[in-house]
Amino acid sequence: MNNFYIVANLKMNKSFEESKLYLKFLQNKVKNSKCEIILFPSNISLAYFHENIYGMQVGVQDIDYRSEGEGTGSISASQVKDICNYVLIGHSERRIIFSEDDKLLNKKLKSSWKNNLKTIFCVGEDINIRNSGAKAVEDYIVKQLVNSLENDSDWQNLIVAYEPIWAIGTGKPADASQIKDVLEIIKQTLNKLSNNINIPILYGGSINEENFQNYKNQRNIDGLLIGSSSLNPDVLSKIINNI
Ligand code: PGA
Repeated sequence: MNNFYIVANLKMNKSFEESKLYLKFLQNKVKNSKCEIILFPSNISLAYFHENIYGMQVGVQDIDYRSEGEGTGSISASQVKDICNYVLIGHSERRIIFSEDDKLLNKKLKSSWKNNLKTIFCVGEDINIRNSGAKAVEDYIVKQLVNSLENDSDWQNLIVAYEPIWAIGTGKPADASQIKDVLEIIKQTLNKLSNNINIPILYGGSINEENFQNYKNQRNIDGLLIGSSSLNPDVLSKIINNI
């Protein structure tokens, strides 16, 4: 497996037809990629992506914590495990818009691992916490990790994404100096919890074709989680081809 991750979170964008064109265009443009590419389309396109993708992985943007039955509109890990191998858990949009707390996210993590899905677990502070100083940010991030992860977590199937909320969709990415201490804290916390298993860490927040190179060689960054810029397959392919 390649060891740098490029993860595209397409969020609630693109119709089924648009998604088909997107995948076709992207597959034509991506050349000899040196990264592990994971696409998170909307649920409507998961099966299509699964059947038509090559050289890349497919993930689901969220799952219900339960496995089947009552849950109108929800989708479970056991339902999608045949058509994708990754799941995104705890994205800040889920935490904020859908009021998902650490306890619920712990259940979702367990459900994804029970179904052998690899999990990208997102953490990140908002602007108020950031403005309260480094200690407040550290405490908040450690709490997010400790509250949802447990000693018996499936560490081999975990990737953690650090996405400061103030950098998501704002066009104002965090620069290296703003995030290096937080990344170090995440690394140390994961080492402690997992007994030194090497868990990849991603950065996400306003990554684009101009700035992605800045993160490539940063300590404790094993990949990038890209939202807005991944919607344009031309831009995404340029990032992938130049990593
Ligand atoms: P962005 O989104 O790249 O548009 O900032 C990142 C994300 O929400 O995962």
